[in-house]
Amino acid sequence: MKLADARRDQYRKLAKENNYRSRAVYKLSQLNKSYHILKKGMKIVDIGSAPGGWLQLASKVVGKGGMVIGVDLKSIDPIPNVITIIRDVDDTETLSLILKYLDGKADLVLSDLAPNVSGLWEIDHLKQIDLTRKALEITKKILRVDGNALYKLFQGETTSEFIADTKRIFSNVIITKPDASRKQSSEIYLLCKGYSPQESSRINNFLV
Ligand SMILES: C[S@@+](CC[C@H](N)C(=O)[O-])C[C@H]1O[C@@H](n2cnc3c(N)ncnc32)[C@H](O)[C@@H]1O
Repeated sequence: MKLADARRDQYRKLAKENNYRSRAVYKLSQLNKSYHILKKGMKIVDIGSAPGGWLQLASKVVGKGGMVIGVDLKSIDPIPNVITIIRDVDDTETLSLILKYLDGKADLVLSDLAPNVSGLWEIDHLKQIDLTRKALEITKKILRVDGNALYKLFQGETTSEFIADTKRIFSNVIITKPDASRKQSSEIYLLCKGYSPQESSRINNFLV
């Protein structure tokens, strides 16, 4: 077995042993260990969340006083303290439903969105960034000032443009890759801290 396959197996095994639905949970858990993004009592919206590994971890950390909303095209088996919205991120009703359940603003937006991959890297990259842009647009409508967001990105020709767009509205943007993310995969995670929507309106006003 190749080393990369062994590592993938190791996280899959761990997920099974700990009753997590996906090995992806270890990516969020490692990012959380480094950056402390999940906190008790938070309101979290997780976009692209099936089968629900991230939702399970987020729900555990926020506890009963918090709220976790998961959005995905695919259905998600119930998780305590988690509301699921089974909709396309591109559907206009998705945002209305999130706002309806959220009751105020979110403290954290997570996006682990991934399209069905074709194997043609540039095409998959463009599709994934396009999806993640939808998550970024939703973020602008639901995140509280000074809140944080985490986006998965498939690296490619438009990654830097996406990162530049996040830098306009967040005070600190960190590019990171947890150990549980396969080294040979070109996915990275963008941790965007300190949502500052006035940044973008200031730039727009300046341009008018
Ligand atoms: C890598 S998986 C997420 C894994 C999840 N973080 C976990 O811990 O179990 C990516 C998800 O993005 C979802 N997705 C892809 N396109 C979508 C769309 N247009 N709207 C909503 N979800 C979408 C897929 O259905 C898939 O469940």
